[in-house]
Amino acid sequence: MKLAPARELLDAAVSGGYALGAFNFSNLEFLQAIVEAAGDTDTPVILATSEGAVKYAGLDNIVALARAAAARCPVPLCLHLDHGQNMDLIRACIAAGYTSVMIDASDLPFTENVEKTAAVVRLARPRGVSVEAELGRLVGIEDSVRVEERDAVLVDPAEAGEFVRRTGVDSLAPAVGTAHGAFKFKGDPRLDLARLEQVREATRGLPLVLHGASSVPTEVLKACRAAGVELPGAKGVPADQLRAAVRAGVAKVNTDTDLRLTFLAAVRSTIVGRPGEFDPRRYLGPGRDAVQALVRERIRFLRRAS
Ligand code: G3H
Ligand code: 13P
Ligand code: ZN
Repeated sequence: MKLAPARELLDAAVSGGYALGAFNFSNLEFLQAIVEAAGDTDTPVILATSEGAVKYAGLDNIVALARAAAARCPVPLCLHLDHGQNMDLIRACIAAGYTSVMIDASDLPFTENVEKTAAVVRLARPRGVSVEAELGRLVGIEDSVRVEERDAVLVDPAEAGEFVRRTGVDSLAPAVGTAHGAFKFKGDPRLDLARLEQVREATRGLPLVLHGASSVPTEVLKACRAAGVELPGAKGVPADQLRAAVRAGVAKVNTDTDLRLTFLAAVRSTIVGRPGEFDPRRYLGPGRDAVQALVRERIRFLRRAS
């Protein structure tokens, strides 16, 4: 199978009543783990690479690996640029064979975000490449945060409607209280689900994307701790809030941190206490297996969530 545009997979997920998983990779082991998990669960996935991942692994390597994976995989895969900010890189990804790009101009004023996003849609659409954009700032919001503070950083639903009309994007990532990484919230996590519902209404059912969706699950933290990793205060999006977000219109759920933590715990627990081990396959392999199991579980969760 050829790599598929994100919009095709998102539409299938929406009509199939499930949310699509997007998982980040920047090396062979993560890619293999994600693709195997997609096959295990018979569910399409989005293979996401950040600008940093492209720099680390090389654009040509990433495209070749993703194409080879798609050719073998029994379910459709999409190759997506995550948080693209550099227009030259976005152009290069489209030319090289990516089937989806995110333009993240969320740090610019609204009108400039509209203009930059619309320019990417004009580049991508004729080539059958899907476009995701972002509105608002990804910062963890807790229960205690005042309404004015929320309004200052989170997506404005009315703006979201206007943004989609003016840009023609295929999906939108609205900031509703999640943040990237392993330390999302200091207090109790509380996604702004009412705002998410308003965005869904304003954007008339356009597939919405939840960034910063790692749960930092207790069992993963336990495995990390047992392997000597120190992450005091680590906290993610609780499963019930993730489920509620999917029910409120999220069709694509982005996960990276949980994979990184899982990989780290498995690799460390394999090498700590084995000072003579120097065959990378013997410690990267267990990391890959652990990530595959985690992604499989996450995909199953997303299938049940809606
Ligand atoms: O959204 C961010 C992803 O977790 C990728 O992060 O820029 O460290 O590759 P990165
Ligand atoms: P996490 O940091 O929660 O895994 O979020 C990943 C993400 O949003 C990638 O774009
Ligand atoms: Zn993100």
